[in-house]
Amino acid sequence: MRQIAMTAAGAMAANTAGSVLRLPGSGVDDVRAQVLSNERVNDTYNLLVVAAPGPASRAVAGQFFHLQCPTTDRDAPYLRRPMSTYRAEPQSGVVEFLYKVNGAGTRGLASLEAGDYLSMLGPLGVGFALEPDWRHIVVLGRGVGLATLAPLAEMAAARNIGVTAVISARDQDQVLSVPRFADIGAHVEIVLDSDGSSSVDNVERLLRRCHAEGHADAFFTCGSNRLMLLMQRLGDELGIAGQVAMEQQMACGLGMCHCCVRDFRVAGETVSRRVCWDGPVFALAEATSW
Ligand SMILES: Cc1cc2nc3c(=O)[nH]c(=O)nc-3n(C[C@H](O)[C@H](O)[C@H](O)COP(=O)(O)OP(=O)(O)OC[C@H]3O[C@@H](n4cnc5c(N)ncnc54)[C@H](O)[C@@H]3O)c2cc1C
Ligand code: FES
Repeated sequence: MRQIAMTAAGAMAANTAGSVLRLPGSGVDDVRAQVLSNERVNDTYNLLVVAAPGPASRAVAGQFFHLQCPTTDRDAPYLRRPMSTYRAEPQSGVVEFLYKVNGAGTRGLASLEAGDYLSMLGPLGVGFALEPDWRHIVVLGRGVGLATLAPLAEMAAARNIGVTAVISARDQDQVLSVPRFADIGAHVEIVLDSDGSSSVDNVERLLRRCHAEGHADAFFTCGSNRLMLLMQRLGDELGIAGQVAMEQQMACGLGMCHCCVRDFRVAGETVSRRVCWDGPVFALAEATSW
């Protein structure tokens, strides 16, 4: 078992096994979680499962954790890396992350083994919101965007809101999360680059069909700029409210450094907002291209 070193970027003292350290005045916890498993899902994505005490397991769909990624022989990632909550179970205290190995931080995460410890700052940010009068929503995601949308679908199902999930991927081997959506009775549409079905034209046809069938009270998306722009355009045309979970490289994750600022369009004005603190979930109509 290894103890993961915490850098100054964590700005907090090491805590004991399975413990929670509350950062004074922030309302945010640094959770020392224990790795239960960390396995490959396919050749691109890994699933990290941890036992996380306290409020971590009460994270809601769309919220994220800022993870202290381990140092390896190759890398020494200084800053934490943001990861969406793929699953958070208050009863068992289990939290899961679905991640793509990209660079130093996620390579470090991939080196974690069962029994290791991981410092997780969070839960952070503003999650998804569901209106009580919505009866059916459409979620559209690609890649690790589905890590954010799968818990949203479960939150919707728990409130008796139907879900259509449009899952976009490069090919069948990269398709993620289908059992999570199927388990809650979602109608699942898989669209692929390999057969051309992920084209904007085809996804637009699917979304218009959902609307025509009365199954699109709201749109939700994550993981693709192209798909976000499509949903935004259709939402505007058809009068469908929507939310988008945005990604941005982060440093503090706590709203202080302003490194994660993006532009939004609000009432004809361009407004800057921090993805970590004001989001990562924002009104779809206000998002701008990235
Ligand atoms: C709120 C939030 C939730 C996220 N949830 C997940 C998740 O559930 N699963 C997952 O795999 N990833 C998720 N990400 C993205 C993840 O944080 C980055 O992939 C990760 O920080 C990359 O770190 P790295 O050290 O491995 O790669 P780096 O070496 O930092 O970067 C590798 C490459 O990815 C690019 N990159 C890094 N971070 C981002 C980013 N945030 N947006 C776009 N490009 C980036 C870099 O420019 C570079 O080209 C999320 C990001 C945010 C902001
Ligand atoms: S990462 Fe520092 S303000 Fe968002």
